[in-house]
Amino acid sequence: MEPYLWEWGSAILRWLHIIAGMAWIGASFFFMHLDALLKRRPDLPEGVLGSSWQVHGGGFYEMRKWTVAPPALPPELVWHKWQAYWTWISGALLLAWIYYAQAELYLIDPAVLDIAPPLAAAIGVSGLVLGWLVYDALCKSRLKDNDAALLALLFLFVVGLSAVFAHVFSGRAAMLHTGAVLGTVMTGNVFFVIIPNQRIIVADLKAGRAPDPALGKAGKQRSTHNNYITLPVVFMMIANHYPLAWSRPWVIPLMVALVTIAGALVRVFYNLHHAGRGSPWWAWGAAGAAMAAAIALSIVAAPGPNGEPAQRAAPQRPVPAEVADIMLTRCSMCHMPQPVWAGIAAAPKGVLLDTDAAIARQAEAIRLHAVLTRSMPPNNLTGMTDDERRVLAAWLSSP
Ligand code: HEC
Repeated sequence: MEPYLWEWGSAILRWLHIIAGMAWIGASFFFMHLDALLKRRPDLPEGVLGSSWQVHGGGFYEMRKWTVAPPALPPELVWHKWQAYWTWISGALLLAWIYYAQAELYLIDPAVLDIAPPLAAAIGVSGLVLGWLVYDALCKSRLKDNDAALLALLFLFVVGLSAVFAHVFSGRAAMLHTGAVLGTVMTGNVFFVIIPNQRIIVADLKAGRAPDPALGKAGKQRSTHNNYITLPVVFMMIANHYPLAWSRPWVIPLMVALVTIAGALVRVFYNLHHAGRGSPWWAWGAAGAAMAAAIALSIVAAPGPNGEPAQRAAPQRPVPAEVADIMLTRCSMCHMPQPVWAGIAAAPKGVLLDTDAAIARQAEAIRLHAVLTRSMPPNNLTGMTDDERRVLAAWLSSP
């Protein structure tokens, strides 16, 4: 029963997390775009910054933005906050479900640091809390009016934190925790700054007081930060499927840096483009260069145990007994139709490694997960030796 619980719990939480995240990011992209499209028109009432006409779903919409607020508040006001809160709540549950409850499989890599699951989980949670506290303190420091300096410091802080995670956790957990710190910063911005400030503004308006413009300004600053953080976070969240992005501890902070630069640059393009400030194609070019560097980095970092270059495996290569033996002793207890590894109910990701034919079919996947990177066996639970990886490498590089 238990394995089904773990698998379905993870599937359902991930489903919820992705949907909430889509709603949140979708709404936030929509409002960034809308802000940039607003046009002043002579027929607009006083207090309206601009409006935008849009067509969607069989009707026409006229959106107006009032700054700071309309003279009288409408009785019904839609707040956009639950998408953000649900994204974080489901993400935190998913993190605990996969990485903390199944720490041996996903969180702890004894080759990096052999620590007890509760300690590892405590380090992960502290990282999230610390990340928010440091970021929030930076935003309230003397640098608060200097967005470029703030973003640069935040960038260095996150890259540094990912280096720490990389020396404590498995590669995939280090990448994921870095993304989770950024996701926590984004949600913290909504929960602790943007929404509370908006509440004060609403209360001021109701009481007939003029709201303090600094409140709106701080909210806008945090929401701009969120906009630049969004794309890198999504990459870090999906990176656990791409072991080339975290094949060695020293690769992780560099990868985080490159992906963050690339993602933020793509937002630079859209923000300027939508605001009618030209089409800064250089931003796409630079983002592409950063991703090319990320690919190059993964090639440099993953030469295989003998340093041999990656070569493509022929489709149906014969499987020597030595290779089949390694698969049987190190992999197939999980990767067979009815796995014998406690907690695993079905072959993970449908990958079977129990017969010669199945092994031959997975040659490329074996190269990626057991030779170029060491993502399999997970955290080397079954104790695969370097010699065995060399045998696999030799098999895969033979014509
Ligand atoms: C302790 C159980 C276990 C052992 C032993 C194990 N794996 Fe896995 N394997 C998993 C799990 C769990 C996943 C799913 C990981 C995920 O969800 O990203 C997986 C996924 C995979 C995948 C698919 C990866 C993807 O994302 O598409 C491949 C390929 C793979 N393993 C190969 C191997 C090889 C080769 C070995 C032996 C060297 C091995 N595994 C040993 C548990 C195991």
